[in-house]
Amino acid sequence: MKKPAYLLLYLLLFTVLFSCQPKQQAQEITEPTDPMEWWRDARFGMFIHWGLYAIPAGEWKGTTNHAEWIRTTAQIPLEEYDQFLDEFNPVQFDAEAWVKMAKQAGMKYIVITSKHHDGFGLFDSETSDFDVMSTPFKRDILKELAEACQKEGIKLCFYHSIMDWHHPDYLPRRGWEKDRTTEGAEFPRYIDYMKSQLKELLTNYGEIGVLWFDGEWEDTWTHEEGVELYNYVRSLQPNIIINNRVDKGRQGMAGLTAEGDYVGDFGTPEQEIPATGLPGVDWESCMTMNDHWGYNQHDDHWKSSETLIQNLVDIASKGGNFLLNIGPKADGTFPQESIERLATIGHWMDTYSESIYETEASPISEVAWGRLTQKKTEAGTRIYLHVFNWPEDGRIELNGLKGKLSGSGWVAEKSEPIAIEQEGENFILTLPEIEANAYNEVIWLDLKD
Ligand code: GLC
Repeated sequence: MKKPAYLLLYLLLFTVLFSCQPKQQAQEITEPTDPMEWWRDARFGMFIHWGLYAIPAGEWKGTTNHAEWIRTTAQIPLEEYDQFLDEFNPVQFDAEAWVKMAKQAGMKYIVITSKHHDGFGLFDSETSDFDVMSTPFKRDILKELAEACQKEGIKLCFYHSIMDWHHPDYLPRRGWEKDRTTEGAEFPRYIDYMKSQLKELLTNYGEIGVLWFDGEWEDTWTHEEGVELYNYVRSLQPNIIINNRVDKGRQGMAGLTAEGDYVGDFGTPEQEIPATGLPGVDWESCMTMNDHWGYNQHDDHWKSSETLIQNLVDIASKGGNFLLNIGPKADGTFPQESIERLATIGHWMDTYSESIYETEASPISEVAWGRLTQKKTEAGTRIYLHVFNWPEDGRIELNGLKGKLSGSGWVAEKSEPIAIEQEGENFILTLPEIEANAYNEVIWLDLKD
C-alpha cells in the first residue's frame, strides 16, 4: 500500500473506534442555588394585563373609567361579557416583538395574566372553554410567549387570579349579580379547577419563574388553602417563586407580608414604593404607566420616562424589584405611549444598567439629590451614586459610608475628573461641569474595607 493509503486506513480506524465509544455525558455539578437569586439580581420586570377587557378598552355605555375590572365596575351580565369571546382576535399579536421590547427596556422577566379576575384564560386550557381557543384567534398566546422568552433569555412568569367571576363554583358572586344562582356551587370544586389549570400552566410552558397570585382577599379564601396552594405549585416546579398574595398575609396596597405564619416568597406593594427597604425582606412594587392595568383608550395620564427611570432606581436603592405594567390593545399591540417609554428606559439602561442589576439596597438613608445602590465586588464594595438633581454648586456630601476609597468614576463614558475628599465616613465630591444625563447620571465609588 502506498503511504497515503495507509494514512487513510488509520484515519478510518480511528474514526470507527471513537464513534463506537459509549457517549460520555458531561458530568454537570449542580450547586444548590437559592431560587430567589435570579429574581433579586434582575430588579426589573414587565407586567402584562391582557384579556377580553382589552376589547371595550375601558369604555362601557358612556362611562370611561374601566379596565380589567370592567365586568364588575360596569356590572356587565355574564352572557353579555361572554360575547367578547367572539370578538377577541388580536391579529397583530407578535410574541417575539413583545419579548424584545421587554428585553430592550432592560427587563429580565415578564409576568402575564394567564387568567385575570374575569376568568378568561390566555392559554389553551383542557379544563375550560373560557379561554383563547374559544375565540376566533385560536392561538395559545402563552405558548408563543414561552417560545419567544426561551429564545431571548427572558423568564416567563404567570399572574393567576384566585378570584374568578366566571366559574360557577367560585364564591362569592358579586353583590350586584342577582341573576347568577349560587345553588350547587361548591368552592372546593373551584379549587380543583384552579389547580388543574395551574398544572397545565406549570407543565406545558417550560420552566416558569414566578407564580403571581391575586384576588386572595375574599373571605372564601383561607390561610390553609393558601398554604396548600403554595405547596401544590412548588410540587409542580420546585424552583418557582410565589408571591405573598397566595396567602392572607398581605397588608393592603402597601403589600408587605404581616408578621405571622404566612407563605409567599416576596411582598407585593401595589402602585407604591415603600418608604424604606427592609433588610432581609424581598418585595416587588408593581405599577402602571398610566392609571389602569388593562388597556383604557381614554387614559392619557402617563407617567414620564423620567419618573419611571427614577422609580426603578428608587426601588433598587431600597432593595426591591420594579414590575412595570403594559396593557396591550385588543389588536395585540402595545399602546404607543408604552412603546416610547420602554424605549427611553432601555436607552438609559443600555449605559447604566450595571448600577441596577445585582445591586443591593443603599447603605445609607435617602439623600436629597438622588439615590444610592451598591454591589459587592472582589475588592470590597462598589457604591453607585444616582444623581437625579445635578447640584448647582457641583458639591455632593455623603455621610456614613464605611470603607476606604479606592477608586471612582462615571458609569457612562466620561473623562472629566471627580474630586473626592474622604474624612472617615464622610465624603465630599466636587463634580465637574458636564452634560449630565437628563434622568439620572451615575457615579461609582469603590470602597475597601
Ligand atoms: C389588583 C387588581 C388587579 C391588578 C392587580 C395588580 O389587585 O385587582 O386588577 O391585576 O392589583 O397588582
